[in-house]
Amino acid sequence: MKKLTSMILASALLAAVISGCSSGKSSGGDGGKEPQVGVAIYKFDDTFMTGVRNAITDASKGIATADIVDSQNSQPTQNDKVDLFITKGAKALVINPVDRTAAGVIIDKAKPKDIPVVFLNREPLPEDMKKWDKVYYVGAKAEESGTMSGQLIVDYWKAHPEADKNKDGVLQYVMLKGEPGHQDAELRTKFAIQAIEDAGIKVEKLAEDTAMWDRVKGQEKMAAFLAAHGDKIEAVFANNDDMALGAIEALKANGYFKDNKFMPVVGVDATAPALQALEDGTLLGTVLNDAKNQGKASITLASVLAKGETPTKDNVGYDITDNQYIWISYKKITKDNMADAK
Ligand code: GAL
Ligand code: CA
Repeated sequence: MKKLTSMILASALLAAVISGCSSGKSSGGDGGKEPQVGVAIYKFDDTFMTGVRNAITDASKGIATADIVDSQNSQPTQNDKVDLFITKGAKALVINPVDRTAAGVIIDKAKPKDIPVVFLNREPLPEDMKKWDKVYYVGAKAEESGTMSGQLIVDYWKAHPEADKNKDGVLQYVMLKGEPGHQDAELRTKFAIQAIEDAGIKVEKLAEDTAMWDRVKGQEKMAAFLAAHGDKIEAVFANNDDMALGAIEALKANGYFKDNKFMPVVGVDATAPALQALEDGTLLGTVLNDAKNQGKASITLASVLAKGETPTKDNVGYDITDNQYIWISYKKITKDNMADAK
């Protein structure tokens, strides 16, 4: 009887060990060949960054053991997570900062332990990038997405003379901004309007406010814009799709998108719900923010660095600019080329 019990115990133990080895995190660990990479996302509850996070998980298979954590939109929390990664022996870090100006603090933690850092999506200031040659940034050129979203409105304005509702030859618009200080919020806002002016169209800003990348806040701010300016609004710019989709909800509640009442609304990201809105004919256009390649480039670069190798186009698969930057291109998306974003 005793023998049987110990046999059962032994096999249960063996099963636990086996399942432990093949659990979620792609092997690695002690004795495994894949390096440990600590990944901290600014917050899990962000549509676009969820796409990037999933891309990191997929691309990590076979090249790194990615430990992905939620910084819950708090820089002190993220700093604690970085300390923990370092204590646990991470060989490289992928950091999507909560506050991009905190990059220097993170570099100061990692550099003395010789743990390379790949920043992602929130671009560190140039002076922080210069602190160490094992610091990298993977992202997209924010101004490019701004220009493209402006061009989407230019194309619409030129093709639709009725878009100038009050016939004054000026495009009256409202702007839903992302998080202030974020390069994507500042530069998308600036370059979207620049593109309109560059096309020779006069513009007038009726209102601008931040909705913090958030759909519900986008809806609330758009409702307030409509209450203040009503039919004077001729176009809606949003720094991302979630805010654009929120704006569309507010517009629908005000009678838009039926009975020939239309409003051109543009976003950025090309998330799945945004593609659905393109299909429905509510969202005019968006700009593909390539989550898949941003995630893949980050974890591939981190795995190369974790092995102590020098990153090149050959071992990472992406061009490295100025020895520290990987730039992923944006792409204009409308109903006509939606397939490119899927
Ligand atoms: C932007 C993206 C936004 C939001 C933000 C978070 O690139 O367009 O939707 O995810 O990053 O930093
Ligand atoms: Ca007008």
